Amino acid sequence: MKEFRKELLDLVPYTPGEQPSSTSQIIKLNTNENPYSPSPNCAKALNEIMALGLLRKYPNPSSDSLRESIAKIYGISKDNILVTNGSDEAIRLLFTGILGNQSTIASPDPTYSAYPVFADTTMEDYRFVKVPLLKDFHFDWQSLLASKADLVAFANPNAPTSLLEAKEQVIDFVEKFPGFVLCDEAYIDFAEPGSSCIQDACSKSNLFVSRTFSKSYALAGLRVGFLVGTKENISILHKLKDSYNVGMLDQAIAKAAIEDIGYFNQITSQILITRKRLSQSLMQLGCEVVVSSTNFLFVKPPSSHKAKDWFEKLKNNGIFIRYFGSGVSADYIRITIGTDDESDSVLKAIQKFLEK
Ligand SMILES: Cc1ncc(COP(=O)(O)O)c(C=O)c1O
Repeated sequence: MKEFRKELLDLVPYTPGEQPSSTSQIIKLNTNENPYSPSPNCAKALNEIMALGLLRKYPNPSSDSLRESIAKIYGISKDNILVTNGSDEAIRLLFTGILGNQSTIASPDPTYSAYPVFADTTMEDYRFVKVPLLKDFHFDWQSLLASKADLVAFANPNAPTSLLEAKEQVIDFVEKFPGFVLCDEAYIDFAEPGSSCIQDACSKSNLFVSRTFSKSYALAGLRVGFLVGTKENISILHKLKDSYNVGMLDQAIAKAAIEDIGYFNQITSQILITRKRLSQSLMQLGCEVVVSSTNFLFVKPPSSHKAKDWFEKLKNNGIFIRYFGSGVSADYIRITIGTDDESDSVLKAIQKFLEK
Protein backbone atom coordinates (compact mmCIF):
# COMPACT_ATOMS: atom_id res chain seq x y z
CA MET A 1 0.00 0.00 0.00
CA LYS A 2 1.25 3.43 -0.88
CA GLU A 3 0.66 5.48 2.25
CA PHE A 4 2.60 8.09 4.12
CA ARG A 5 2.78 7.86 7.94
CA LYS A 6 -0.41 9.27 9.45
CA GLU A 7 1.70 11.44 11.80
CA LEU A 8 3.33 13.06 8.78
CA LEU A 9 -0.01 13.86 7.16
CA ASP A 10 -1.13 15.54 10.41
CA LEU A 11 2.18 17.34 10.99
CA VAL A 12 2.09 21.14 11.21
CA PRO A 13 5.46 22.28 9.80
CA TYR A 14 7.61 25.06 11.27
CA THR A 15 6.66 28.43 9.79
CA PRO A 16 9.82 30.38 9.00
CA GLY A 17 9.71 34.17 8.73
CA GLU A 18 8.75 35.43 5.30
CA GLN A 19 11.66 35.62 2.79
CA PRO A 20 10.89 38.25 0.15
CA SER A 21 12.93 38.09 -3.09
CA SER A 22 16.48 39.36 -2.66
CA THR A 23 15.82 42.23 -5.09
CA SER A 24 12.85 43.60 -3.14
CA GLN A 25 13.07 46.91 -1.28
CA ILE A 26 11.64 45.40 1.90
CA ILE A 27 13.38 46.24 5.20
CA LYS A 28 13.72 42.73 6.51
CA LEU A 29 13.81 42.56 10.29
CA ASN A 30 11.85 39.33 10.75
CA THR A 31 14.33 36.43 10.94
CA ASN A 32 17.22 37.79 13.03
CA GLU A 33 19.66 37.84 10.14
CA ASN A 34 22.75 40.02 10.39
CA PRO A 35 22.42 43.35 8.55
CA TYR A 36 26.11 43.32 7.58
CA SER A 37 27.99 41.28 4.98
CA PRO A 38 30.06 38.34 6.16
CA SER A 39 33.83 38.77 6.54
CA PRO A 40 35.56 39.78 3.28
CA ASN A 41 37.75 36.70 3.79
CA CYS A 42 34.70 34.54 2.94
CA ALA A 43 34.87 35.69 -0.69
CA LYS A 44 38.56 34.75 -0.85
CA ALA A 45 37.79 31.25 0.48
CA LEU A 46 35.02 30.86 -2.10
CA ASN A 47 37.19 32.06 -4.98
CA GLU A 48 40.03 29.76 -4.03
CA ILE A 49 37.81 26.68 -4.19
CA MET A 50 36.38 27.78 -7.52
CA ALA A 51 39.82 28.58 -8.96
CA LEU A 52 41.16 25.18 -7.97
CA GLY A 53 38.08 23.42 -9.40
CA LEU A 54 37.57 21.55 -6.13
CA LEU A 55 33.80 21.33 -6.26
CA ARG A 56 33.93 18.18 -8.38
CA LYS A 57 35.05 16.37 -5.21
CA TYR A 58 33.01 15.50 -2.11
CA PRO A 59 33.66 17.66 0.93
CA ASN A 60 35.50 16.51 4.04
CA PRO A 61 32.83 14.34 5.74
CA SER A 62 33.55 15.56 9.29
CA SER A 63 34.36 19.21 8.53
CA ASP A 64 37.79 18.61 10.08
CA SER A 65 39.44 21.89 9.21
CA LEU A 66 36.44 23.95 10.36
CA ARG A 67 36.25 21.93 13.59
CA GLU A 68 39.92 22.72 14.23
CA SER A 69 39.24 26.46 13.86
CA ILE A 70 36.17 26.32 16.12
CA ALA A 71 38.10 24.30 18.71
CA LYS A 72 40.94 26.84 18.74
CA ILE A 73 38.57 29.80 19.26
CA TYR A 74 36.85 28.18 22.25
CA GLY A 75 39.84 26.34 23.71
CA ILE A 76 38.16 22.94 23.34
CA SER A 77 39.01 19.77 21.41
CA LYS A 78 37.71 19.20 17.89
CA ASP A 79 36.35 15.86 19.15
CA ASN A 80 33.85 17.84 21.24
CA ILE A 81 32.33 19.33 18.06
CA LEU A 82 29.88 18.04 15.45
CA VAL A 83 29.48 20.44 12.50
CA THR A 84 25.99 20.45 11.01
CA ASN A 85 23.80 21.87 8.24
CA GLY A 86 22.66 24.87 10.29
CA SER A 87 22.07 24.47 14.02
CA ASP A 88 18.63 23.15 13.10
CA GLU A 89 20.34 19.93 11.98
CA ALA A 90 22.32 19.82 15.25
CA ILE A 91 19.07 20.03 17.23
CA ARG A 92 17.30 17.47 15.06
CA LEU A 93 20.20 14.97 15.35
CA LEU A 94 20.15 15.39 19.12
CA PHE A 95 16.40 14.79 19.27
CA THR A 96 16.75 11.72 17.03
CA GLY A 97 19.56 10.38 19.19
CA ILE A 98 17.82 10.80 22.53
CA LEU A 99 14.08 10.62 22.02
CA GLY A 100 11.99 7.65 21.00
CA ASN A 101 8.58 6.21 21.73
CA GLN A 102 7.33 7.02 25.25
CA SER A 103 9.98 9.74 25.67
CA THR A 104 9.26 13.06 27.33
CA ILE A 105 10.72 16.35 26.19
CA ALA A 106 10.25 19.61 28.11
CA SER A 107 10.82 23.23 27.12
CA PRO A 108 10.07 26.65 28.51
CA ASP A 109 7.14 28.24 26.69
CA PRO A 110 7.74 30.24 24.61
CA THR A 111 11.14 29.27 23.29
CA TYR A 112 12.38 28.41 19.76
CA SER A 113 9.18 27.21 18.11
CA ALA A 114 10.93 24.64 15.92
CA TYR A 115 11.50 22.22 18.86
CA PRO A 116 7.95 20.78 18.81
CA VAL A 117 8.21 20.36 15.03
CA PHE A 118 11.53 18.49 15.31
CA ALA A 119 9.98 16.35 18.04
CA ASP A 120 6.95 15.61 15.84
CA THR A 121 9.11 14.55 12.93
CA THR A 122 11.35 12.26 14.99
CA MET A 123 8.79 10.58 17.26
CA GLU A 124 5.28 9.28 17.22
CA ASP A 125 4.30 8.43 20.76
CA TYR A 126 5.88 11.00 23.05
CA ARG A 127 5.03 13.76 25.52
CA PHE A 128 5.97 17.43 25.10
CA VAL A 129 5.80 19.34 28.39
CA LYS A 130 5.61 23.09 27.85
CA VAL A 131 6.60 24.99 30.99
CA PRO A 132 5.29 28.59 30.93
CA LEU A 133 7.82 31.34 31.63
CA LEU A 134 7.63 33.12 34.97
CA LYS A 135 5.99 36.57 35.04
CA ASP A 136 9.40 38.25 34.56
CA PHE A 137 9.99 36.02 31.48
CA HIS A 138 12.75 34.00 33.16
CA PHE A 139 12.59 30.19 33.05
CA ASP A 140 10.67 28.29 35.71
CA TRP A 141 13.63 26.06 36.58
CA GLN A 142 11.76 24.27 39.37
CA SER A 143 9.02 23.11 37.02
CA LEU A 144 11.52 22.15 34.33
CA LEU A 145 13.27 20.05 36.96
CA ALA A 146 9.98 18.48 38.02
CA SER A 147 9.15 17.54 34.39
CA LYS A 148 11.30 14.39 34.69
CA ALA A 149 11.83 14.70 30.95
CA ASP A 150 14.42 12.74 28.98
CA LEU A 151 15.49 16.02 27.42
CA VAL A 152 15.00 19.66 28.36
CA ALA A 153 15.60 22.02 25.41
CA PHE A 154 15.78 25.81 25.58
CA ALA A 155 17.38 28.74 23.83
CA ASN A 156 19.70 30.91 25.93
CA PRO A 157 19.36 33.83 25.40
CA ASN A 158 15.76 32.87 24.77
CA ALA A 159 13.76 33.52 21.63
CA PRO A 160 11.51 35.37 21.17
CA THR A 161 11.95 37.11 24.55
CA SER A 162 15.68 38.01 24.04
CA LEU A 163 16.30 37.44 27.76
CA LEU A 164 19.44 35.74 29.08
CA GLU A 165 19.49 33.16 31.86
CA ALA A 166 22.64 33.46 34.00
CA LYS A 167 25.24 30.81 33.22
CA GLU A 168 25.41 29.83 36.92
CA GLN A 169 21.67 29.12 36.81
CA VAL A 170 21.97 26.95 33.70
CA ILE A 171 24.86 24.96 35.18
CA ASP A 172 23.04 24.54 38.50
CA PHE A 173 20.08 23.10 36.56
CA VAL A 174 22.30 20.79 34.49
CA GLU A 175 23.90 19.47 37.69
CA LYS A 176 20.53 18.74 39.33
CA PHE A 177 18.69 17.42 36.26
CA PRO A 178 19.05 13.69 35.58
CA GLY A 179 18.14 13.85 31.87
CA PHE A 180 19.83 15.53 28.90
CA VAL A 181 19.86 19.31 28.45
CA LEU A 182 20.12 21.24 25.17
CA CYS A 183 21.26 24.83 25.64
CA ASP A 184 20.69 26.43 22.23
CA GLU A 185 23.11 29.36 22.06
CA ALA A 186 22.09 30.72 18.64
CA TYR A 187 22.25 34.31 19.98
CA ILE A 188 24.91 34.05 22.70
CA ASP A 189 27.45 36.19 20.80
CA PHE A 190 25.20 39.19 21.48
CA ALA A 191 25.16 38.51 25.25
CA GLU A 192 27.60 39.54 27.99
CA PRO A 193 30.97 37.80 27.45
CA GLY A 194 31.26 34.78 29.76
CA SER A 195 27.60 33.75 29.41
CA SER A 196 28.22 30.67 27.27
CA CYS A 197 28.16 27.08 28.55
CA ILE A 198 30.24 25.81 25.61
CA GLN A 199 33.22 24.71 27.71
CA ASP A 200 30.96 23.08 30.33
CA ALA A 201 29.36 20.95 27.61
CA CYS A 202 32.74 19.29 27.02
CA SER A 203 32.82 17.81 30.51
CA LYS A 204 29.18 17.47 31.61
CA SER A 205 27.79 14.26 30.16
CA ASN A 206 24.15 15.47 30.08
CA LEU A 207 24.76 18.89 28.49
CA PHE A 208 24.83 19.86 24.80
CA VAL A 209 25.31 23.36 23.40
CA SER A 210 24.25 24.24 19.85
CA ARG A 211 25.67 27.21 17.92
CA THR A 212 25.06 28.76 14.52
CA PHE A 213 26.91 30.77 11.87
CA SER A 214 23.55 32.24 10.76
CA LYS A 215 23.37 35.18 13.17
CA SER A 216 26.60 36.71 14.50
CA TYR A 217 28.70 35.48 11.54
CA ALA A 218 26.18 36.79 8.98
CA LEU A 219 26.04 33.46 7.14
CA ALA A 220 22.37 32.41 7.30
CA GLY A 221 22.46 31.69 3.56
CA LEU A 222 25.15 29.03 4.02
CA ARG A 223 23.51 26.78 6.62
CA VAL A 224 26.29 25.94 9.08
CA GLY A 225 25.96 25.26 12.78
CA PHE A 226 27.56 22.95 15.32
CA LEU A 227 26.88 20.95 18.44
CA VAL A 228 29.24 20.72 21.41
CA GLY A 229 29.20 17.88 23.93
CA THR A 230 31.52 15.38 25.60
CA LYS A 231 33.72 13.42 23.19
CA GLU A 232 31.73 10.24 23.92
CA ASN A 233 28.35 11.91 23.26
CA ILE A 234 29.56 13.59 20.08
CA SER A 235 30.99 10.34 18.70
CA ILE A 236 27.59 8.67 19.17
CA LEU A 237 25.65 11.45 17.42
CA HIS A 238 28.26 11.50 14.63
CA LYS A 239 26.81 8.15 13.52
CA LEU A 240 23.45 9.77 12.78
CA LYS A 241 24.55 12.50 10.39
CA ASP A 242 24.54 12.20 6.59
CA SER A 243 27.97 11.25 5.25
CA TYR A 244 28.51 14.68 3.68
CA ASN A 245 26.17 16.83 5.73
CA VAL A 246 28.01 20.13 5.19
CA GLY A 247 29.18 21.28 1.75
CA MET A 248 32.75 22.19 0.82
CA LEU A 249 31.94 25.87 0.26
CA ASP A 250 30.03 26.01 3.54
CA GLN A 251 32.96 24.56 5.48
CA ALA A 252 35.53 26.87 3.87
CA ILE A 253 33.44 30.04 4.15
CA ALA A 254 32.46 29.38 7.77
CA LYS A 255 36.14 28.77 8.59
CA ALA A 256 37.14 32.08 7.00
CA ALA A 257 34.42 33.86 9.00
CA ILE A 258 35.28 32.39 12.40
CA GLU A 259 38.99 33.08 11.93
CA ASP A 260 38.38 36.78 11.16
CA ILE A 261 37.92 37.79 14.79
CA GLY A 262 38.54 41.50 14.10
CA TYR A 263 35.69 41.74 11.61
CA PHE A 264 33.40 39.65 13.83
CA ASN A 265 34.02 42.01 16.77
CA GLN A 266 33.44 45.04 14.56
CA ILE A 267 29.99 44.01 13.26
CA THR A 268 28.89 42.56 16.60
CA SER A 269 29.72 45.75 18.50
CA GLN A 270 27.92 47.83 15.87
CA ILE A 271 24.79 45.69 16.35
CA LEU A 272 25.02 46.18 20.14
CA ILE A 273 25.27 49.97 19.68
CA THR A 274 22.21 49.99 17.40
CA ARG A 275 20.35 47.70 19.82
CA LYS A 276 20.90 50.14 22.68
CA ARG A 277 19.82 53.11 20.59
CA LEU A 278 16.68 51.43 19.21
CA SER A 279 15.72 50.06 22.60
CA GLN A 280 16.08 53.46 24.32
CA SER A 281 14.15 55.25 21.56
CA LEU A 282 11.28 52.74 21.72
CA MET A 283 11.10 53.11 25.49
CA GLN A 284 10.99 56.91 25.08
CA LEU A 285 7.99 56.36 22.81
CA GLY A 286 6.25 54.50 25.62
CA CYS A 287 6.98 50.90 24.57
CA GLU A 288 8.05 48.19 27.00
CA VAL A 289 11.27 46.60 25.79
CA VAL A 290 12.69 43.43 27.36
CA VAL A 291 16.42 43.74 28.23
CA SER A 292 17.94 42.12 25.17
CA SER A 293 20.98 39.83 25.05
CA THR A 294 20.32 39.03 21.38
CA ASN A 295 20.22 40.73 17.97
CA PHE A 296 16.50 41.41 18.34
CA LEU A 297 14.10 43.24 20.63
CA PHE A 298 10.87 41.94 22.16
CA VAL A 299 8.64 44.98 22.29
CA LYS A 300 5.22 45.68 23.80
CA PRO A 301 3.49 48.75 22.32
CA PRO A 302 1.87 51.30 24.69
CA SER A 303 -1.45 50.09 26.13
CA SER A 304 -3.69 51.87 23.60
CA HIS A 305 -1.95 50.01 20.74
CA LYS A 306 -2.02 46.37 19.66
CA ALA A 307 1.10 44.38 18.71
CA LYS A 308 -0.71 42.66 15.84
CA ASP A 309 -1.76 46.03 14.38
CA TRP A 310 1.82 47.31 14.50
CA PHE A 311 3.04 44.14 12.79
CA GLU A 312 0.52 44.62 9.99
CA LYS A 313 1.05 48.37 9.69
CA LEU A 314 4.84 47.99 9.57
CA LYS A 315 4.37 45.40 6.83
CA ASN A 316 2.25 47.86 4.87
CA ASN A 317 5.14 50.33 5.26
CA GLY A 318 7.55 47.77 3.73
CA ILE A 319 9.06 46.72 7.07
CA PHE A 320 8.91 43.01 7.93
CA ILE A 321 9.11 42.12 11.62
CA ARG A 322 7.80 39.01 13.47
CA TYR A 323 4.57 38.50 15.38
CA PHE A 324 3.83 35.15 17.03
CA GLY A 325 0.30 35.82 18.19
CA SER A 326 -0.21 33.32 21.01
CA GLY A 327 0.40 33.17 24.77
CA VAL A 328 2.58 35.96 26.18
CA SER A 329 3.89 36.67 22.67
CA ALA A 330 0.47 37.94 21.59
CA ASP A 331 1.17 41.34 23.17
CA TYR A 332 4.68 41.71 21.70
CA ILE A 333 6.42 42.22 18.39
CA ARG A 334 9.94 40.96 17.69
CA ILE A 335 12.23 43.33 15.78
CA THR A 336 15.62 42.20 14.46
CA ILE A 337 18.42 44.74 14.95
CA GLY A 338 19.28 45.99 11.47
CA THR A 339 21.48 48.89 10.37
CA ASP A 340 21.04 52.31 11.98
CA ASP A 341 19.12 53.45 8.89
CA GLU A 342 16.76 50.48 9.12
CA SER A 343 16.19 51.17 12.80
CA ASP A 344 15.42 54.80 11.99
CA SER A 345 12.79 53.66 9.47
CA VAL A 346 11.16 51.50 12.15
CA LEU A 347 11.16 54.40 14.62
CA LYS A 348 9.76 56.83 12.07
CA ALA A 349 6.91 54.46 11.19
CA ILE A 350 6.10 53.82 14.87
CA GLN A 351 6.15 57.55 15.64
CA LYS A 352 3.49 57.98 12.95
CA PHE A 353 1.30 55.22 14.47
CA LEU A 354 1.50 57.03 17.80
CA GLU A 355 0.54 60.42 16.34
CA LYS A 356 -2.75 59.07 14.97
C1 LIG B 1 16.87 29.93 18.94
C2 LIG B 1 17.24 29.43 17.59
N1 LIG B 1 17.89 28.29 17.48
C3 LIG B 1 18.26 27.80 16.29
C4 LIG B 1 17.95 28.47 15.12
C5 LIG B 1 18.33 27.84 13.81
O1 LIG B 1 19.40 28.48 13.23
P1 LIG B 1 20.17 27.88 12.00
O2 LIG B 1 19.53 26.58 11.61
O3 LIG B 1 20.11 28.90 10.94
O4 LIG B 1 21.56 27.63 12.50
C6 LIG B 1 17.26 29.67 15.17
C7 LIG B 1 16.91 30.39 13.95
O5 LIG B 1 16.32 31.42 13.90
C8 LIG B 1 16.89 30.17 16.44
O6 LIG B 1 16.20 31.32 16.56
